[in-house]
Amino acid sequence: MTTTVLVAGSANLDFVVRASRIPAPGETVLGQDFRTYAGGKGANQAVACARAGGAATRMLLGLGQDAFAQPIEASLADAGVERIVRRFDQHATGTAFITVADGGENAITVAPGANAALQPQDLPPLAGVDLLLLQLETPLATVSAWARAAQAAGVQVLLNAAPAQALPAELLAAVDVLVLNEGELRALAGSAGTLDDQLQRLAVPDVVVTLGARGCVAHTRAGHFVQPAFSVSVVDTTGAGDTFCGTLAAALARREAWPQALRQASAAAALACTQAGAQASIPTRQQVQDLLAAPSP
Ligand code: RIB
Repeated sequence: MTTTVLVAGSANLDFVVRASRIPAPGETVLGQDFRTYAGGKGANQAVACARAGGAATRMLLGLGQDAFAQPIEASLADAGVERIVRRFDQHATGTAFITVADGGENAITVAPGANAALQPQDLPPLAGVDLLLLQLETPLATVSAWARAAQAAGVQVLLNAAPAQALPAELLAAVDVLVLNEGELRALAGSAGTLDDQLQRLAVPDVVVTLGARGCVAHTRAGHFVQPAFSVSVVDTTGAGDTFCGTLAAALARREAWPQALRQASAAAALACTQAGAQASIPTRQQVQDLLAAPSP
């Protein structure tokens, strides 16, 4: 029987310029080439989940009635994601303005548009859904209501707590798996103590902290796991965290054990750093398997 992941979240058109470095406040930097890419944390994660394979992937998203919606829908369709679209007359499709520096790091400003208009009642029926994958680019009250609905329906909830913000206890109480980076962990648990101390302050059954080039750690009901990062030549880190989350969601929905799930998610995230763009850089299952099979340098 096929397992099904539902992603409910954001979709943006990314306006990306490369530059030698990220400008400081008040500074103008002359950039290089400009391109648009399909993006948005929710849509990136849906594409990663679909490309990871073994799980049917659906996505609830909000779009405007404008030309920016088309490339987003086309990218999701190309990856094999079933779309459930709420279309808004009064709101533009979400956009993100991204500077990618030569070292691959980025700075992102999001204009949420239609993403911010998604409501609790927009969640489609959860019958047949095994895992609900959420992020924080849609309103917090909406995300909380979706997580609670999934919990009530017995559907596993994976929340990627990005972008960083404090979260209500009622949302965390409905989450089974929390994925976040170190900055997002500090926003939730405070900066006092070690990473382990911060993790202890989170009342979520399974927590994964991504550490960039240092890999990731997971505190789960099945044990504590450390996964080193795969070494790659970094071109653009945009969407790497989303690739990790979508790949992890697919692996957990397939009921893979934590060490295998973390290895696949880390390999996919590393490969996403080797190409420009968000969804454009997300690897296929075969590319991930090839990296996993390659002898370590
Ligand atoms: O995580 C990367 C994403 O953040 C980009 O695709 C951009 O749209 C923003 O949502």
